[in-house]
Amino acid sequence: MKVMTIVGARPQFIKASVLSMVLAEDDTIEELLVNTGQHYDWNMASVFFTELGLREPFINLAIGSGPHGRQTGEMLVALEPVIEANAPDAVLVYGDTNSTLAGALAAAKLHVPIAHVEAGLRSFNKRMPEEINRILTDHCSQWLFAPTATARDNLLREGIAEEQVFQVGDIMLDVALTFGERAVRASNILERLQLTPGDYVLATIHRAENTDDAVRLSSLLAALERVAESMPVVLPLHPRTRTAIGRMPNGEALLKRLNIVEPLGFLDMLLLEKKAAVIATDSGGVQKEAFFHQVPCVTLRDETEWVELVELGWNRLVDPKDAKAVAASIRDAVGTSGVRSNPYGDGCTARSIKQVLLRAAQ
Ligand code: UD1
Ligand code: UDP
Repeated sequence: MKVMTIVGARPQFIKASVLSMVLAEDDTIEELLVNTGQHYDWNMASVFFTELGLREPFINLAIGSGPHGRQTGEMLVALEPVIEANAPDAVLVYGDTNSTLAGALAAAKLHVPIAHVEAGLRSFNKRMPEEINRILTDHCSQWLFAPTATARDNLLREGIAEEQVFQVGDIMLDVALTFGERAVRASNILERLQLTPGDYVLATIHRAENTDDAVRLSSLLAALERVAESMPVVLPLHPRTRTAIGRMPNGEALLKRLNIVEPLGFLDMLLLEKKAAVIATDSGGVQKEAFFHQVPCVTLRDETEWVELVELGWNRLVDPKDAKAVAASIRDAVGTSGVRSNPYGDGCTARSIKQVLLRAAQ
């Protein structure tokens, strides 16, 4: 079976690392990795290939940044001949970025069946580009790999046939289990940043809704500054956020007390997450990693797709426009824990996906 995996953004390199490794164990599967090049800085892309052993892409389309229509459109144009020339039996896409949608659309138009990893997630907020990407991708996929029962229910409610939906757990748990111990051995990030385990907040901000809106962004930074009065706050800065802060007249002043670092490699990030007192984030992946490491999390958004985390008490949502509430929520989260449960499966998601694909190939 020839599987063409299409990735392009940071979280996709991370998710693909483990599934690619598992697919490679089987002689009957040939995987071709296509990188759209949506993310291209060394610390947003190459570092993950090096650290996580992800195979070199068979082709890098080098599409880069741009407005949604142009970026997605250029990917479509570039992907079509690659899919045609290589005639894969399946195209595999992850998550909800523009690379996901372009990969799915290009494959669907060429009648190549699509496997969607992380299917069925919904924020019910169609102003998020990711929500549009995931709905459209789900509705042209053949195999929908849902990480949770909630995701599976969402798909069935939208009329997707039960036999196409596979609740296989969350691939990010496989990733955390595969690389967690290695991070502890290999990363010296705590020494480099002079941090004490259990005595700092790790924050990430990159969502369009938080970075494109100066009110929300300055409120979030003001809240982190407040927290930093009593505890170090580390903020690895996504390039989108750095640019947005650069546009704000008082941008630099909002970062005075924060420990700002460049985007981190995955092993450094995992260790920082593991040892944090609290994680404050608008990232999908980081919310779940907080839970995997049993670190309390504050989600800097109005809603989350990962509702189990809130229901179990590990995560709380806070309005990014309310700086006071954000700061209080982060401080209050220190030392808390939630209900122990396992909504994301047992860390064998990659193997379950491989089994489904192999069965389909017979
Ligand atoms: C994208 C995804 C988002 C995902 C995130 C993961 C879409 C619509 N959004 O958001 O769902 O959570 O990736 O990180 O696909 N930039 C650089 N260097 C890079 C990459 C980006 O400087 O290597 C800057 C560029 O100015 C670019 C901006 O970041 O315009 C945004 O990048 P883009 O890939 O469009 O969206 P993300 O915000 O990264
Ligand atoms: N991540 C990383 N370095 C960073 C920030 C995040 O390695 O500086 C990892 C993080 O641990 C998680 C993934 O990137 O595995 C999440 O990606 P991101 O927040 O960019 O996107 P999202 O998950 O929200 O789509």
